[in-house]
Amino acid sequence: MKILAFESSCDDTCVAVVEDGRRVLSSCVSSQTDTHALYGGVVPEIASRMHTEAISRLCRNALDDAGLTLADVDAVAVTYAPGLIGALLVGLSFAKSLAATLGVPLIPVHHVRAHVAAAYLAFPELEPPFVALACSGGTTAFIHVEDYTKFRFLGGTKDDAAGEAFDKVGRCLGLTYPAGAAMDRLAAGGNDRAYEFPRPSFADAPLDCSFSGLKTAVINTVHNLQQKGLEPSVPDLCASFCRTVSDMLVPRLLKAAELTGCTTVCVGGGVAANSVLRRDLERACAAAGLRLCIPPLKYCGDNAAMVGALGYYEYLAGHTAGPDLNAYATMSLSTENE
Ligand code: KG4
Repeated sequence: MKILAFESSCDDTCVAVVEDGRRVLSSCVSSQTDTHALYGGVVPEIASRMHTEAISRLCRNALDDAGLTLADVDAVAVTYAPGLIGALLVGLSFAKSLAATLGVPLIPVHHVRAHVAAAYLAFPELEPPFVALACSGGTTAFIHVEDYTKFRFLGGTKDDAAGEAFDKVGRCLGLTYPAGAAMDRLAAGGNDRAYEFPRPSFADAPLDCSFSGLKTAVINTVHNLQQKGLEPSVPDLCASFCRTVSDMLVPRLLKAAELTGCTTVCVGGGVAANSVLRRDLERACAAAGLRLCIPPLKYCGDNAAMVGALGYYEYLAGHTAGPDLNAYATMSLSTENE
């Protein structure tokens, strides 16, 4: 089954064709990063306008790259929540009209659940149950994936997402938005023990975490040094920050595996591209006898192939929608109560 998939929840317009939830026939991304970098963050109105300008061309490119025409499309999948409402509506409106015109099913897909499903694209034999960490610019969550379309939120950040902390700290260090990838590169040349930052934990909720205090601690460190006329070492700060984020995420993911009895762990979202996190996870999972599935970098950040992957399983579960499907800025990660 060939699914034409759309993703427009933030600042990347993405269209892909995925066969049977696993085989990527094409995956096109039009990034707006350079435009939003001028403002230090995503400007929702500009994002919506740029999605509108790009989506038709990108849809054609995705079909061309796959060597297909619209007549070959069996279903249309689209991210409908959570995200920037105006941005979501562009992809949703386009997908709805396309599905109606072609007379094929329309499949609504949850953005964060799709980040988890990205692992199916790289690990053909991967099947639920497993535990997952979804960590991106908007989310940091530990999830029990009980079945392909059954997700249970186990714990996560109480305030900022890990990616948000990367971007805000990066801004304080004079780096362009989004700063995560640049901080990752700079960290390679720094000392990860140069600065000690807080690693908050919650006794009654072992999987919950917090990044807001960490962000403030780094910013205060920079300001204190500057007030003394000292220049902070950006590579050391980046390395110490990456180390702290990894130290907060890795043990919690292992704990999630222990609590659920899962032997496979997956990681998805933009922060899953982080080299320190990836290296630490490989070591920790090998030591704990867990199987680790992290998608390649192209499927960590926003993309539509992951929407096509989850869309296939949503379709098999009978989760299709009519033309009254709406977009939602927020939506629970858990499917328990649906
Ligand atoms: O998944 P994504 O592309 O979009 C959302 O759904 O949010 O994630 C974007 C986030 C940004 O905060 C960006 O700074 C972060 O992922 N990011 C990274 C790296 N590459 C992207 N964070 C740490 N290390 C990286 N290598």
